[in-house]
Amino acid sequence: MCGIIGYTGNKDAAPVLLQSLKKMEYRGYDSAGFGIIHDKSIQILKDAGRIDDIASRVSIRTKKGTTGIAHTRWATHGGVTQTNAHPHVSCDTKIAVVHNGIIENYQELSSKLKNEGHRFASETDTEVIAHLIEKYYRIEKSPLKALQSAVKQLKGTFATLALFDDKPELVLGARKDAPLVVGLGKGENFIASDIVSFISYTDKVAFLKDYEIASITPSKVQIFTFDGEPVPVVSTQVAWEASDISKKEFAHYTLKEISEQANTINAALDQDEVKIVEFCEAIRNAENVRITASGTSFHAGILMRYLLAKLAKIHAQVFISSEIDHEIDLIDENTLVIAISQSGETADVLEAVKKAAAKGAKIVSLVNTVGSSLTRESKVSLPLNCGPEIGVAATKSFTSQLAIIYDIAFRLAGLDDKREQLNDLGRYVEIVLNQGERIKEIAEKHKLAADFYFIGRGLHFPIALEGALKMKELSYTHAEGLAAGELKHGTLALVDAGTPVIAINPSDETYSETLSNISEMKARGARVIAVSDKDNELYDEIISIPSVDPAFFPIIEVIPLQILAYYAAVERALDPDYPRHLAKSVTVK
Ligand code: F6R
Repeated sequence: MCGIIGYTGNKDAAPVLLQSLKKMEYRGYDSAGFGIIHDKSIQILKDAGRIDDIASRVSIRTKKGTTGIAHTRWATHGGVTQTNAHPHVSCDTKIAVVHNGIIENYQELSSKLKNEGHRFASETDTEVIAHLIEKYYRIEKSPLKALQSAVKQLKGTFATLALFDDKPELVLGARKDAPLVVGLGKGENFIASDIVSFISYTDKVAFLKDYEIASITPSKVQIFTFDGEPVPVVSTQVAWEASDISKKEFAHYTLKEISEQANTINAALDQDEVKIVEFCEAIRNAENVRITASGTSFHAGILMRYLLAKLAKIHAQVFISSEIDHEIDLIDENTLVIAISQSGETADVLEAVKKAAAKGAKIVSLVNTVGSSLTRESKVSLPLNCGPEIGVAATKSFTSQLAIIYDIAFRLAGLDDKREQLNDLGRYVEIVLNQGERIKEIAEKHKLAADFYFIGRGLHFPIALEGALKMKELSYTHAEGLAAGELKHGTLALVDAGTPVIAINPSDETYSETLSNISEMKARGARVIAVSDKDNELYDEIISIPSVDPAFFPIIEVIPLQILAYYAAVERALDPDYPRHLAKSVTVK
């Protein structure tokens, strides 16, 4: 849940690290820090707070030195304080480390190290790594061997980088169950949690696998196993460009990413024919189909279950990835597990697929980040192709997931004419995007609301869940998504005069029944905001969506809900890109 970056090259490291770290602020933003080698010593500059504030507080841009590491934190062990911010150093301050993940056996290790005379400064699990490396460096005299010995002691998950003040051009990085990728430059090299951090410098990357260590200097990249065996460095060119990670004219990444959806939906449909056919065949041939994901991607999973049942008459179950231990008994070698994830690094999702694979299940996935851990665990992985998603809330990745899910369901149902219509969706998305001002007015009108209820039936139920999740995370306002028919079974007791209810009610087979539920709420004083292509006197307000083929309503109707949540955050003077307490890539359990 933290972001780490290492740089070694021909430029001053500080501005490069600062720029790269800011691109990973979505991974955590409660503290940040830098370690830069200059004049044979490591300068540590770190504090609690947002990266920009810290950078000016410590005058980072003026610091000299061409090799360094940096970290943006999402606290797990130890409060949000300057001392707990990374980098952490060895007793003699000659070694500095940054870390993403959790060291499960840190208490055991730190008491042992303390008994051996090591002095600890912070409350973090990470600090044991610095002291372990220090211990082994004294014995081994080689940074690589010291890191190998240290990581073999660690239990848990980690991507960690280390600097040694007597090796002023070297950055070492080790990975186990947390992302780490090397950026291959000219006269400079990078190593980071995410490609977006260094994409403005190089688009050539080498992905590290679990139990591997990378050693980078300005002129050389080497990869080894934890046992010291050399591993070939395979260079891959990524399709992302530096402009993909700029905000352009938008106030926030979230708004930019919402606005990109007419294009990203089309990009999602651009799939390798052989792979998507193989994906569909895997579903057709499986005895037992299980879909797994977390958060927004889980909502895409629910929609997939509905579509497979409705269109292709294929029965699939969907479960939240963190619930794997309560599903595992029903998974075997006849099971196909479909994992859905934007990042491909969500710890819960990875754990679910690993446990399922251990029972013999076949894994396929939909993933945005090519080369991520989930793509490597999968027999077939279809890319979302939506480019980097920087805003912490998932927006364009969700509609890209839906576009591919529709394509798969139509293929399995033999509905080729519908598949062709998918290519026209961008046009309808533009129409919805043009309603931004109208949706902003609605957000303004309800800026004091304490609760929102989102309702929808059938295919609109997962969209109601997604609308509520967006509202909660962006505007910090309580919101619930419900199957419309379920409201009267309890939640209706909370509906009072003026309670805003967002009713997702386009003109399909769910229209009349949802209208009845709307009447029930109106009778209790609710203020109904409909998302629909068909007006009704029961609605207090309507966000109009175009009349499309009813199958496609979900993918169109979620966009106004994203915009509503975005403006709800802006109206409350919150930063929609970086909601409090959250991180985009949840790499801890
Ligand atoms: C919500 C959101 C999260 C993610 C969840 C899974 O806006 O972004 O709920 O959807 O953490 O992440 P991925 O899809 O990367 O596995």
